[in-house]
Amino acid sequence: MAPPAPQRSFHTTDTEYNLPNDSPEHARLEEQAAGYAELMHNRVIHAPLSHPQRLLDIGCGTGAVTHHLGTTYPAADRIYGIDLSPVPNINRPGESPGNISFIQGDVRKLSKTDQRLAPGSFDYVFSRLLICGMTDWAGYMRDTVAPLLKPGGWVEVQDLDYVWYKHGHVCSGEWKWLRAINEGAKRKGMDLSCGSNAAKYMREAGLVDVSVKRYGAPFGTWAVKQRPESERIGAAQAEGIGPLYEVIVPRLAQGLGLSESEVQGLVGESSECLRAEDGKEWVVHVTVGRRPF
Ligand SMILES: C[S@@+](CC[C@H](N)C(=O)[O-])C[C@H]1O[C@@H](n2cnc3c(N)ncnc32)[C@H](O)[C@@H]1O
Repeated sequence: MAPPAPQRSFHTTDTEYNLPNDSPEHARLEEQAAGYAELMHNRVIHAPLSHPQRLLDIGCGTGAVTHHLGTTYPAADRIYGIDLSPVPNINRPGESPGNISFIQGDVRKLSKTDQRLAPGSFDYVFSRLLICGMTDWAGYMRDTVAPLLKPGGWVEVQDLDYVWYKHGHVCSGEWKWLRAINEGAKRKGMDLSCGSNAAKYMREAGLVDVSVKRYGAPFGTWAVKQRPESERIGAAQAEGIGPLYEVIVPRLAQGLGLSESEVQGLVGESSECLRAEDGKEWVVHVTVGRRPF
């Protein structure tokens, strides 16, 4: 008999967020962060910052990008990482930058009350992969992100669409499990196309100079010959993404009136669809904008 699946742990707030916060998830996030860095040609962030003083990493997870910002901008006054869950202690090469610190909680609530998140005080606000929880993206961009920025301050959103491609053509249009979780996510106010919609949300929030760069992130190492930079994320996604949907599908399918066995059927279909395969990838959208002066 197969051993029982390990119990996963989750944040305990009432904020919508559907991924675990345990050590297997931390290991996955760290490997993913390393894979993204390689995929983006060691360019972790894209906004053209010049001597930033206050920076914020929203939904910082294990703090990989927060740490990168600290080492890249040692002269910055303060770099905060904020997350719903405690940020784990991770041994990284070199000294820990003295100018980073972490805040625990929901950025949407804390930006109204926590003096460290004062309006108009940030040169740069970064987020990556809020797709699995953020609700009302338009309101989040308008009422939380834009007001945090100084005039001229930059925002960068790195996020996905739940759309899969095979050799450049959409292959996920008929996936039943994906249609179900899109419906479940919509009912919760989430947007499973937030990657490509980020530019629209920024413009609607009054941000300007919005630009988008896209990176194909393969499932498996099939693209290595043409795109050697995709090897690490390809391997990480081949191993780590399928199992995540055993968590995501049941949580997003809640409230759709499906039986337990129907939900398990969707989970099975998702793991079949998400296995590594030649030509399969999804797209990471990097969207940058700024608050007008
Ligand atoms: C998929 S992880 C990505 C972590 C990190 N950005 C990275 O790329 O490695 C998303 C993180 O966002 C956090 N998060 C989601 N919604 C949040 C919110 N409203 N406020 C603060 N953190 C949030 C989650 O707790 C989770 O750690």
